[in-house]
Amino acid sequence: MSLEVVPIDAARPDFAGLARGVDLAGPIAEDVACAIDAAMNHYAVLVFRGQPLTQEQQLAFAGALGPLDLGFKRVARPHARLAYQELADISNIDESGQVADRAHRRIVGNLANQLWHSDSSFQQPAARYSMLHAVVVPEWGGETEYADMRAAWDALDPRDQRELDGLEAEHYALYSRFLLGDTEYTEEQRNALPPVRWPIVREHAGSGRRHLFIGAHTTHVVDRTIAEGRMLLADLLEHATARRFVYAHQWQPGDLVIWDNRCTLHRGRRYDLSVRRELRRATTIDVDRHAGANTAQPEPAHGAR
Ligand code: OGA
Ligand code: MN
Repeated sequence: MSLEVVPIDAARPDFAGLARGVDLAGPIAEDVACAIDAAMNHYAVLVFRGQPLTQEQQLAFAGALGPLDLGFKRVARPHARLAYQELADISNIDESGQVADRAHRRIVGNLANQLWHSDSSFQQPAARYSMLHAVVVPEWGGETEYADMRAAWDALDPRDQRELDGLEAEHYALYSRFLLGDTEYTEEQRNALPPVRWPIVREHAGSGRRHLFIGAHTTHVVDRTIAEGRMLLADLLEHATARRFVYAHQWQPGDLVIWDNRCTLHRGRRYDLSVRRELRRATTIDVDRHAGANTAQPEPAHGAR
């Protein structure tokens, strides 16, 4: 078995590939992990269809691609429905297994995911790959969209490129929550993940391509007034998420989509909150695949910490 990838949209041969030939449930050999890395460096988003995975299989697959990220769980850990801290519960399901009331606290996380963002851009190191797996999907809405920040950079005019080069933005984990009116966090939670700074223009280590690095966690631009920085970021986001840079994924149960958080943004689309939507995500941190943090066993969600 070997990895085969074709572009989903022939008009965009270097963004969003449909991948086949690898059983994600099985052990992932080193050469397969390398092939996935190489495909990710080219496509930035890979879609695998028809691969139902247990939680353990999903974690094992993600772990083969790098050390796993906890992300927002460093700030708040709502009820743990899934068995491992390294799996993010991307669902509207409450602790009893029912569709959560739309006023339930966990729904705000779903809604925050509907803003364009890069997972864990609010920490250093940030996220590299996110692997989102669909278990139950609604009939209407709930797509996930991906925007290509390399193509967005390439399409900027040289004057804009010169202005952006060297600028940094600050990213903060709770900024998008505050924006949505979700402000009930303790001092400890507010300070759990201090803001970090990233260049607005970065070079992708795997492809050498330059790309924008922005999204909903950015609060302002360093050395600009808040107003000027926010308008610049809003303007860039509008440019970078134009439809010509976007792939919209329509979920089927058993899909697994991997995206590269370094050079893409993503967002969920609106769906009927009274209908079950159940996905789970594992994410690697942006460090060398063999950095070693992964020798630890996945952490049980219910154990002492
Ligand atoms: C995520 C995310 C969007 C969605 O899992 O990181 O942003 O469509 N998901 O649920
Ligand atoms: Mn996300």
